[in-house]
Amino acid sequence: KQSVEDTLLTTIRTIPDYPKPGILFRDITTLLGNARAFRRAVDELVHPYAGSKIDKIAGIEARGFILGGAIAHQLSAGFVPIRKKGKLPHDTVRVAYSLEYGVDEMEMHRDAVSPGEKVILVDDLIATGGTAEGAVKLLRQMGADIVAACFVIDLPDLGGRKKLEALDVDVRTLVAFEGH
Ligand code: PRP
Ligand code: MG
Repeated sequence: KQSVEDTLLTTIRTIPDYPKPGILFRDITTLLGNARAFRRAVDELVHPYAGSKIDKIAGIEARGFILGGAIAHQLSAGFVPIRKKGKLPHDTVRVAYSLEYGVDEMEMHRDAVSPGEKVILVDDLIATGGTAEGAVKLLRQMGADIVAACFVIDLPDLGGRKKLEALDVDVRTLVAFEGH
């Protein structure tokens, strides 16, 4: 039987020179479209937390929503969307975060998490960690207890995992691609 890692590695598609020359884009749509791979990715991410009380899963728009919704269901937790600015209708907290070039802003509803709630942050991939760091700031601003941050893909050469660990966040990833 194929290992979880092999299942994931063989279903993630790599697109050279997207979105620009020199970038190898790790495309998870092929993983998501494979019933067995999608289930195994979700099962593997939640495995350490099965049986522990998790209040909320916070997913980062857009790809973090897909995995985060499935993980929330699996752990019987609520789901909190962290969105690009201007998309949420009620009172929000907002944070600027760094992208490869420049900055953007993301938001979360102020009442989405209560102080002390146990939250797992979910996204598909961690690269520089700028996006996840912004999400950690929002969640902590509202008093969340971040149990872990989970990603299917780690690009370790870009340093995101170390950035989160320096913020005292427990990071879980399933497969790593060296280089970027
Ligand atoms: C990608 C990816 C992560 C983020 C990782 O999202 O889905 O969210 O970049 O990069 P970082 O660790 O360097 O911050 P993207 O901003 O492309 O948007 P999308 O998920 O809406 O497609
Ligand atoms: Mg994203």
